[in-house]
Amino acid sequence: MSTPGSLIAGVLLLCFVAPAAAAPDAIRGEQLYARCQACHALAADRVGPRHCALFGRLAGSVPDFGYSPAMKNSKIVWNDKTLDRFLAQPLKVVPGSTMTYDGVADPKDRADLIAYLKHANDTPECAKKTSAKP
Ligand code: HEC
Repeated sequence: MSTPGSLIAGVLLLCFVAPAAAAPDAIRGEQLYARCQACHALAADRVGPRHCALFGRLAGSVPDFGYSPAMKNSKIVWNDKTLDRFLAQPLKVVPGSTMTYDGVADPKDRADLIAYLKHANDTPECAKKTSAKP
C-alpha cells in the first residue's frame, strides 16, 4: 500500500541516498587512469605532459613540454569543469590538439578520473617531484 506519506518518505530517502551513491570516487579514478598511462604519467612528461599539479594550472604551461599551438593558445585553466568538458571530447574542445584520444564518454568515469587527478599532488610520486624542485 502506498500512502502519500510513504511516497514522500521514499522521495526524501532518495534525495539523501542518490548523491552519496554518485559521489566521485578517486580510487576508481586511479584505476581509470590506466587509460591515460599509455601517454601520461603523474610526475614525468611522456607522450603527454605530466599531471602533477594539473589543477589550477594553465593549459599548455609545463615548461619544456612540446605542446601543440592549439593547446598553448587555448587559455583553459584546468578545474573540474574544464577537465570534464575536455576529457569528454578532447579534439572538439581543443581542435588541433595532439592528444589524439577519443575521450571518456561516461560522465561518472570522468568525475572519478577528475577526483583522482585533483588529489594527484597527495601521491608520493608528485610529493617527491615538488620537493625536488629548486
Ligand atoms: C594517445 C596519447 C594520450 C592519451 C591516451 C591521453 N593523452 Fe592527454 N595528452 C596527450 C598529449 C600529446 C597532450 C598534449 C596535447 C597538446 O599539446 O595539444 C595531452 C594533454 C593533456 C592535458 C592537458 C595538460 C596540460 O598541461 O595542459 C590533459 C589534462 C590530459 N592530457 C589528460 C588526459 C587524461 C585524463 C587522459 C586519460 C583519460 C589522457 N589525457 C589520455 C596524449 C594523450
